Amino acid sequence: MKENVVHLQGKTSDLIIQTSPAVEILYWGDKISGVDAAAIQAVRRAVPNGRLDVDTPVTISPEQGRGVFSSPGMEGHRQGLDWSPVFNFKSIRQDNNNLLLTTEDPIAGLRLVCELNLDPKTDVLQVRHTLTNLKPENYQVDRFAVTLPLPERADELMAFHGRWVREFQPHRVKVKHGGYQQENRRGRTSHEYFPGLMQGAAGFSEQQGEVWGFHLAWSGNHRLRSDVKTDGRRFVQAEALYFSGEIVLAEGESISTPWVYATYSALGLNGMSHAFHQFVRDQIVHFPEDKPRPVHLNTWEGIYFDHDPEYIMQMASRAAELGVERFIIDDGWFKGRNNDLAALGDWYLDTKKYPNGLEPVVSHVRGLGMEFGIWVEPEMINPDSDLFRAHPDWLLAVDGYQQPTGRYQYVLDLQKPEVFDYLLERMDNLLGSYDIAYVKWDMNREVVQPGHDGYAALDGQTKALYDLFDELRQRHPKVEFESCASGGGRIDYEILKRTHRFWTSDNNDALERQHIQRGMSYFFPPEVMGAHIGGRHCHCTRRTHSIGFRGLTALFGHMGVELDPVKESAEERAGFTHYIALHKQIRPLLHSGKVVRIDHHDAALQINGVIAQDQSSAVFLFSQLAMPTYTLSGTARFDGLDPAKQYRLTVLDQPANLRTGGIMKKLPLWLEEETTLSGAWLAKAGIALPVMDPESAMLIKLEAV
Ligand code: DGJ
Repeated sequence: MKENVVHLQGKTSDLIIQTSPAVEILYWGDKISGVDAAAIQAVRRAVPNGRLDVDTPVTISPEQGRGVFSSPGMEGHRQGLDWSPVFNFKSIRQDNNNLLLTTEDPIAGLRLVCELNLDPKTDVLQVRHTLTNLKPENYQVDRFAVTLPLPERADELMAFHGRWVREFQPHRVKVKHGGYQQENRRGRTSHEYFPGLMQGAAGFSEQQGEVWGFHLAWSGNHRLRSDVKTDGRRFVQAEALYFSGEIVLAEGESISTPWVYATYSALGLNGMSHAFHQFVRDQIVHFPEDKPRPVHLNTWEGIYFDHDPEYIMQMASRAAELGVERFIIDDGWFKGRNNDLAALGDWYLDTKKYPNGLEPVVSHVRGLGMEFGIWVEPEMINPDSDLFRAHPDWLLAVDGYQQPTGRYQYVLDLQKPEVFDYLLERMDNLLGSYDIAYVKWDMNREVVQPGHDGYAALDGQTKALYDLFDELRQRHPKVEFESCASGGGRIDYEILKRTHRFWTSDNNDALERQHIQRGMSYFFPPEVMGAHIGGRHCHCTRRTHSIGFRGLTALFGHMGVELDPVKESAEERAGFTHYIALHKQIRPLLHSGKVVRIDHHDAALQINGVIAQDQSSAVFLFSQLAMPTYTLSGTARFDGLDPAKQYRLTVLDQPANLRTGGIMKKLPLWLEEETTLSGAWLAKAGIALPVMDPESAMLIKLEAV
């Protein structure tokens, strides 16, 4: 092997990087052997006619000055100078699969350090760049990205679009020429564009094909690009988006890109998800205690702003009877908060609503054996609030402009020390005053003109939010936090390092949730995905669903209910009790196993499941989303089980009318007789599926015997 080549080895993937003449990733893909000098020579590119006279490497930060005519890895200048840096290798430090690569441009006076680690357990690649200004004059950074190459065969891409109450909608794009770009400029991770994408050889699916997955762990604005150069080479670029003049480095100052997490899978999207999920479990989410994820009751859709402590205590009693383990008081508990027009910022208990304080409610909830949780939205302020009347200058804004409100509120400037200290004191006080185990941290508007002292300041605002979480978590290490931003507006790995759950969507419609949760499952394991059973009539879509479909849909996440259990019928309550008990029964498997999504020829039927890490058991959910396209629903094949083991099939839950509704004259036999099948058969031939009505679902279990 040549000394300028480093070979990092994962469990299922390898990465080969060349440090000179330029730092370039030569290979990233399936495990590979025979890596020697001849092999490295064999992938040296030709130099075509009619182009530059030299080879132009796409380095870890592609440079115009080397003749790369695509989007550079970094753009910036020093009053118009030093605008086209070329980073030459200086040094490398290697500690197993951890690399620290230092490059410099002495003319432009810039140093670029690349931190790169291929996690040997999960095959997740972590990359971050840091740029330092080495000259006395300020350097303005306009763009700064992480760039990772892909092979030419990776010509199909899958990304997400979305909106409020319709997050994580996947779409596919052929990338043959030019490429793909998504930009989020909404000031938070956004409902619109989750900062992640998957690219692979055409036709990759859940269970098959080569896939490279990418996630930019950042809760602010971002850009993701997938480029196809005119010479056919491909790369993905991921970066935080900066406003003009936002990032200015004085001598010796640095800026780092967010972390990019990426992985290669030879086993389709499922393989990619296994890597990311395990990585999240090992390195991203830090639960204060190793315990089952408690089933929630969140009061929002049950009572909205209508808070009466006596009634809330009744709700809690009913919730406990259903099997709920954590009771959360949502919006409406603080001074003057009777609707969404006022009071954000005034983080004091509303003593008109709670004349005896909050303590009796907390004690009641705790006495029922449940944890207590509470809702806050600290980053925000209503113009109609005492806080705003006292400090109209605390806004994240630019003086002289009237920025639009969003949900009748403005954003506070967290970079003002007095704002940061006020929020820290209020939250610290809240958490110190009551026995609070959980905080639902909301963020309900998009960010317009994020100014601090006149300058653009979204990067600083995002980092200040992280600091606020870090400080609070240090003071209250046992408290868990949920990241909510009108549902799924702030779902990413960087916020998840500080939180423990996401409110996936404000949409509790089971049919919509099937799509949203599947989308989210590509990057996130079920235990961080908040999934609630809503009322029979969904508040978002006005659709009606059976308790069976609602219950089974909410089962595959961190489960909860979102309603008023006092007002629900005995029949509905029996349903909640049943599905909460079912969730608890399979929760250890759901929250530790491997998530699998099954390829199926009919998109009207969605199949997903979880397989135990030791392959001893699995559960699978068949969700009939629409009218079956064909008269038969075909077969389902379950790979990932142990081919040599025998598995007993049992039905854990089925549509109420499956056997009596006249949908089939005869059921598939495994639904009538005890059936045991080998893992090999289940993977290759599978089982025939029953025909089901639209918007119904069925849950089966496979257990090794
Ligand atoms: C938006 C959240 O997504 C809801 O769940 C709820 O907490 C409301 N905000 C409260 O204002």
